[in-house]
Amino acid sequence: MEASAPAAVIVLAAGAGTRMKSRTPKVLHEIGGRSLLAHAVIAAEGTGPAELVVVVRHEREKVAAHLSEHAPEVAIADQDDVPGTGRAVQCGLEKVAADSGTVLVTYGDVPLLEAATLRELVTAHEAASAAVTVLTARVGDPTGYGRILRSADGSEVLGIVEHKDATEAQRAIDEINSGIYAFDLAVLRDALSRVSTDNAQGEMYLTDVLEIARSDGRSVRAVVTDDVMMVEGANDRVQLAQLGAEMNRRTLERHMRAGVTIIDPATTWIDADVTIGQDARILPGVQLHGATDIGEGAIIGPDTTLRDTEVGAGAEVLRSHALLAQIGAGATVGPFSYLRAGTELGANGKIGGFVETKNARIGDGAKVPHLSYVGDAEIGEGTNIGAATIFANYDGVSKHRTTVGKHVRIGSDNVLVAPVTIGDGAATGAGTTVRKDVPPGALGVNAVAQRNVEGWTLRRRAGTAAEAAARAALEADPAAAAAPAVEDNEEHQQR
Ligand code: UD1
Ligand code: CA
Repeated sequence: MEASAPAAVIVLAAGAGTRMKSRTPKVLHEIGGRSLLAHAVIAAEGTGPAELVVVVRHEREKVAAHLSEHAPEVAIADQDDVPGTGRAVQCGLEKVAADSGTVLVTYGDVPLLEAATLRELVTAHEAASAAVTVLTARVGDPTGYGRILRSADGSEVLGIVEHKDATEAQRAIDEINSGIYAFDLAVLRDALSRVSTDNAQGEMYLTDVLEIARSDGRSVRAVVTDDVMMVEGANDRVQLAQLGAEMNRRTLERHMRAGVTIIDPATTWIDADVTIGQDARILPGVQLHGATDIGEGAIIGPDTTLRDTEVGAGAEVLRSHALLAQIGAGATVGPFSYLRAGTELGANGKIGGFVETKNARIGDGAKVPHLSYVGDAEIGEGTNIGAATIFANYDGVSKHRTTVGKHVRIGSDNVLVAPVTIGDGAATGAGTTVRKDVPPGALGVNAVAQRNVEGWTLRRRAGTAAEAAARAALEADPAAAAAPAVEDNEEHQQR
């Protein structure tokens, strides 16, 4: 049966989360590249609710600011001084305009819960015309959870008793309340008005609604999930890490089932929002973060970290680190490349070993193969930047841009002092410090002419291995002593 969209989802996030021992509110801690609360909101949104409310109180300003940044469509409800999940839902309901239909309640600290599970809950709830349907699980250690009380034959749900209020016999029950429910909205509003704080914790328990609905002759049901992790909350940093690892495991499995090769799931971390094309290969030691997008057939790793980076189809990124970069189709990056924000490498381009780039557009087929810094630059297609070239973009006060045209050959060990422009088809000699524009087709050189001081080693380094080697070479070929200095060595380029 097709699930209908609920009238509303209320996400509870008002609790203090003290066990996290953090200055950051619990629900803003992250796994899989999103806050716990963002995971909860995305699952809630996946049910297509007409209204979505998050209930806040503890660290209200931080949580509300996070919501307005990441989920501005969500309504924020403030819980008052009355404690308990029942009061939290009651405060949430004040923001809900609807007065009939199904309302889902979930928690802001349960990150693995999926929209599909919530939709199944709605479907079961509506198919049974229930007043309340609670999502439950059987667990090895139910300590701390509310226990599901059933009729003797187990077929009916009678209510929920909190751990602190439970008898020894009730504590032996291993079916627990996940805290996730579907309610009939009218029943919920009415029942909450009758919930008291008369219990071990002096709180308004949402769980009391089940017994109230039942005593009114309404049907109360349970859906048992066997995916216990999916309903687990993160209460401390140990659980946060466990849930983070489990989320990662599920994310990797989803990609592998969709046709991505992941060589070593144990050392691969992929955030929830990352997209990966078919037949991409993810090698060991890779972390893909944020909105990273990997094209079909690309090869990433080993030992590579990419954040908010786009990698084109068939590109290879080996042992590198990139942030807010775009890598074109068929391009190669690494090993040991550092691509900073605003790097755009064209199709079939290359950023090679020990190269750092920032705010730089490198054209199709252009190459920066070795040991360079390229900052605030535009490099045309087919251009080659010689080894150990530095784009000197910063004069100590401001940053300036360098423009290098198409099919340019920059010699090794150049310093391009910005702002400077090198025209299409131009070249520079090895060791050039480029301070003036080079026109199209020109060769820019400013290396000092070389002078050879003949016999220097024989005179000044007598008795060394160098002297012996020089002497032997000169004896073998006396004409070599007079070899002229190479006049055009500025045209030698590293390849
Ligand atoms: C609650 C359930 C319990 C269930 C357990 C599952 C009640 C009375 N008990 O336990 O049956 O097994 O969840 O984890 O509902 N919150 C608020 N305002 C409050 C109190 C809590 O918004 O005043 C929010 C918290 O931020 C959290 C969620 O509700 O997201 C659960 O709170 P928590 O204190 O962890 O649960 P318990 O009440 O102990
Ligand atoms: Ca909890």
